[in-house]
Amino acid sequence: MTSTTTAVMILAAGLGKRMFSTLPKVLVPICGRSPLFHILDRVAEALPGGRVAIVVGHQKDFVIEQVKAQKYNLVIDFVEQAEQKGTGHAVKCAMNSEWGKQSVSQKQNILVLPGDLPLITTELIQDMAEPLKRGSALKLLTAELDDPHGYGRVVRKGKKGAVLRIVEEKDSLPREKLIKEVGLSIYTFNAQFLAAGAEALKNNNAQKEFYLTDLVAVAVSKKRAIETLAWENPADVRGVNNPYELALASSTLNDRIVKKLAMAGVRFIDLNRVRIEPTVKIEPDVTIYPGVILEGSTEISKGVFIGPSVYLKNVFVGEGAEIKAGTIAEDSRIGAGAKIGPFAHLRPESNVGKDAKIGNFVELKKSTIGEKTSISHLSYLGDAEVGKNVNIGCGFVTCNFDGRIIEGQRKHKTVIEDDVFVGSDCQAVAPVTFKRGSFIASGSTITETVEEDSMAIARSRQVNKVGYAKKLKQK
Ligand code: UD1
Ligand code: CA
Repeated sequence: MTSTTTAVMILAAGLGKRMFSTLPKVLVPICGRSPLFHILDRVAEALPGGRVAIVVGHQKDFVIEQVKAQKYNLVIDFVEQAEQKGTGHAVKCAMNSEWGKQSVSQKQNILVLPGDLPLITTELIQDMAEPLKRGSALKLLTAELDDPHGYGRVVRKGKKGAVLRIVEEKDSLPREKLIKEVGLSIYTFNAQFLAAGAEALKNNNAQKEFYLTDLVAVAVSKKRAIETLAWENPADVRGVNNPYELALASSTLNDRIVKKLAMAGVRFIDLNRVRIEPTVKIEPDVTIYPGVILEGSTEISKGVFIGPSVYLKNVFVGEGAEIKAGTIAEDSRIGAGAKIGPFAHLRPESNVGKDAKIGNFVELKKSTIGEKTSISHLSYLGDAEVGKNVNIGCGFVTCNFDGRIIEGQRKHKTVIEDDVFVGSDCQAVAPVTFKRGSFIASGSTITETVEEDSMAIARSRQVNKVGYAKKLKQK
């Protein structure tokens, strides 16, 4: 059931000093994606089309711009919390906004999510978004943590009795610090209760902040029912407050991504030694060796083989291609059946055709390589357009830079048409064209157009001096 009766509020106004970043905490990437987007991804899955308010403060314009650049099936509003006076104050700002007033008038429940719990799952959101029981003020998500340090503790009547309140770490007594049941700042509230409750919060505590968590005690004092949902998997609700927790979260997310891919037909030689961002798409029947890192909008088609220590960012790889050890590629396309590497470097805007071969120590930049063309060893091609069935020998270099540092004018193009043969150790001083079917003799430095089906030699003639070697050695 898609529940449109629950709206979602995400608290994302804080800077999060302990992250040691100039970015607000909700934008410091985990597996290449902002925590805020991980959360919105899950909300969009759990409650498609739902209403969402994001409370913004630190670098609010930047946060808003980042969110707006994403396409979500959600109706997202932004609410400003100009000064960060605590989670309770953030909620109060949202409830005083048009968004909050509408939520109350539409009698929606409100699921509050902190912006720094990026590991929450779709299922968790669905469970929390279930309608509250009649008369309940709120539903509280709890978890048992082995190390509850830093989390609000759930104080109950007796050991297992009714929930009385949540006490923050900094305000807790030594015996309360021993409690392992924590509140995570994930709640579903009755909107009317939330609006009135947030208004009434006080900040007489260790941090002089308005605590959202105090609403639990408010509900108890008003004799309103509190529901609880105990979450069994603590890894889903781990907060990200510092770089160590960020690294832990990134491992957890990576494990989830790798598991999902493996279940869908990707063969990993070592599950623990790959890094794959959530935005990457991989078809079944792909083999991935250890040390592979796949990032951004990378797409791997079926039947591809990826050898050890390969890094691909925003790369499309066609069916059955082979990427051998140590290859690095960015913002590029690799055609079906192409063989790349070992140790090839595809810099941005490289486009390698079907069944082409780019061998060891070959660097491409802003270059198109046609079908079945082979560049097997030790070459650099920049700003080159190479046709089909071309054979480029070892050690070919396009001299594409003329030394002038004038933006936009300093790089020149090399065009190599279909069926050309380039011998070993040649240079193309761009701009220059090798026309169709031409043959470039080994060791040539080509500065002028080579006509169709012609041969070019551009090297000095050899001189043999008979017996002179012996003489030299005796000197
Ligand atoms: C909060 C809870 C704590 C819980 C923990 C779980 C409170 C008082 N404490 O503590 O019980 O165990 O989360 O993760 O709620 N934010 C704002 N405006 C503010 C302050 C915070 O928008 O004025 C946002 C932050 O950007 C962050 C979220 O609220 O995304 C949580 O704030 P944080 O300071 O991390 O709270 P914790 O100390 O972790
Ligand atoms: Ca936190």
